[in-house]
Amino acid sequence: STVLMNGEFIPREEAKVDIEDRGYQFGDGIYEVIRVYNGKMFMAKEHLERLSASSEKIGIAISYSISELTNLLEALIAKNSLSTGILYMQFTRGTSPRNHGFPTDDVTPTFVAYTKLLQRPLENLENGVSVITVEDIRWSRCDIKSLNLLGNVIAKQKAAEAGCYESIQYRELSVTEGSSSNIWIVNGEKIQTHEANQFILNGITRQKIIQLCNENGMELEEKAFSIEDLIDADEVFLSSTTSEVTPITSVNNVPVKEGKVGEVTKKLQGLFVDAII
Ligand code: PDD
Repeated sequence: STVLMNGEFIPREEAKVDIEDRGYQFGDGIYEVIRVYNGKMFMAKEHLERLSASSEKIGIAISYSISELTNLLEALIAKNSLSTGILYMQFTRGTSPRNHGFPTDDVTPTFVAYTKLLQRPLENLENGVSVITVEDIRWSRCDIKSLNLLGNVIAKQKAAEAGCYESIQYRELSVTEGSSSNIWIVNGEKIQTHEANQFILNGITRQKIIQLCNENGMELEEKAFSIEDLIDADEVFLSSTTSEVTPITSVNNVPVKEGKVGEVTKKLQGLFVDAII
């Protein structure tokens, strides 16, 4: 396959990263995962704006404009003839002799992007998934889409070991988000998800769902909820670029209501599909 590295299209085998790249040594960088449907990026502008916001929050200077990046990424998709899949991209602070503090300004970021075939998760969308709850052990700037994913990795591994699809994280008694997704509950007609602050990543899928709720007169509150609220909810679902609107039918081995996919979740899934196709 063809990958994009520092502005050049090269065969994947030729893409090499230095052992003193700061992404490799410190997780010092940022990334995005963008959905590709029918050869087109979904919500590319929003993803690239979030990338730009992440880069500013940690002081990595990206030398491409959003429109330059869009053109490069569209060319990458075309070169790989990707129809349905994802595009992964990351910027690290660059390569420099190991030292925690930032390198001098002449050190340029390392930029890599590649595509991957990935079908829509139709079975999970239809039947729902099981999750467990775990303590959120991450730092307090989860709004930055940083390469430092150790807390997320450990949370996802716990889910895998429990035979579950995802871990729902909580801080004190509040649910924050999944290891790689945002979490939602529904009670009656009311939909609720954690507010976009420093304790969660403001998902692009999350933003789309909020837009769909507003456009369709659905009741929505952006406010943290407790583990108890999660356990008592009529419906629970998660959202992400790869998982779209995935129903959660069991939490810690206890079925959500009767363990069936809820009506509000189904309605949102329908609206979401209309938005992507
Ligand atoms: N994960 N929260 C976290 C911690 C995430 O890593 C993600 C996405 C989300 C959902 O964001 P979005 O809707 O923009 O995909 C929420 C990506 C897909 C990943 O790391 O693979």
